[in-house]
Amino acid sequence: MDLSGRTALLTGATGGLGREIAAALAARGAKLSLSGRGQEALDALAGQLPGEGHRTLVTDLAEPGAAEKLAAEAGEVDILVANAGLPGTGRLTEFSPEQLNGTLRVNLEAPIHLARALEPAMLERGSGHMVFISSLSGKSATPLSSIYNATKFGLRGFALGLRADLNPRGVGVSLVSPGTIREAGMYHDSGAGPIPGLGTGSPEQVAAAVVRAIEKNKVEIAVAPPQQRAMAHFALASPGISVKIASGAQGQKAASAVAKGQSNKR
Ligand SMILES: NC(=O)c1ccc[n+]([C@@H]2O[C@H](COP(=O)([O-])OP(=O)(O)OC[C@H]3O[C@@H](n4cnc5c(N)ncnc54)[C@H](OP(=O)(O)O)[C@@H]3O)[C@@H](O)[C@H]2O)c1
Repeated sequence: MDLSGRTALLTGATGGLGREIAAALAARGAKLSLSGRGQEALDALAGQLPGEGHRTLVTDLAEPGAAEKLAAEAGEVDILVANAGLPGTGRLTEFSPEQLNGTLRVNLEAPIHLARALEPAMLERGSGHMVFISSLSGKSATPLSSIYNATKFGLRGFALGLRADLNPRGVGVSLVSPGTIREAGMYHDSGAGPIPGLGTGSPEQVAAAVVRAIEKNKVEIAVAPPQQRAMAHFALASPGISVKIASGAQGQKAASAVAKGQSNKR
């Protein structure tokens, strides 16, 4: 799909990766509906983007029914980029029931409800594209990430299944799965620093992957150095060995630093 003149709904627009995705889509001529929780931050972002006609839609996706309301407010949408997410790190019992439900809703339920609401009009037009921002944590499980892993494994399965339903009918569905991203976003904000030997990806690479996924109708693009991609691939084939390695002393230490730095985002 050519992005020029298309309308795109982007959730999590004011986050570390969302800002880069917004800039990349706008640079290709898309007209954006930018969604996030803060009006001021959304307005400031809309004002910085190239092109005209960008809109802002304030939504708290942790609220029941918010995704359906957002889809209705967005009107005609050619492209959905479901990017909003919470880190969901920490031990299961550290989450209050409200925090648990909020993370499940933002990371998994909201993208599903958005897709459900937007699908009929896309099918009627015989065109459209949905991009779901998953993670390599949707392929490989690590310590202190059970909730995040649950949402990202779930989102990955959902997107692949939805692609099987919609792609033959002219509507594209893609996954963009980043590994650890430097410079901005939830991993960078944790202050944990890069894991030695594993490398990092950049927010610009994530944004370029979103554009490529839409323009080339890609099934899935992993945004990570080869060693991270290889580990995730191995985890899919041999989950038992992968979890055993990840839960060793080094893995626990790295996971603990990330979870500690993300405990304010629940
Ligand atoms: N950064 C990484 O290393 C990395 C790696 C793999 C996957 N990812 C995925 O990339 C996506 C973007 O993450 P990021 O790194 O950009 O994180 P981020 O900087 O923390 O941004 C998260 C975005 O999600 C939005 N959000 C959170 N809770 C929300 C709620 N209740 N209602 C509506 N919006 C909500 C935030 O809105 P506000 O701006 O209003 O707070 C923010 O725009 C996520 O799906 C994440 O899982 C990130």
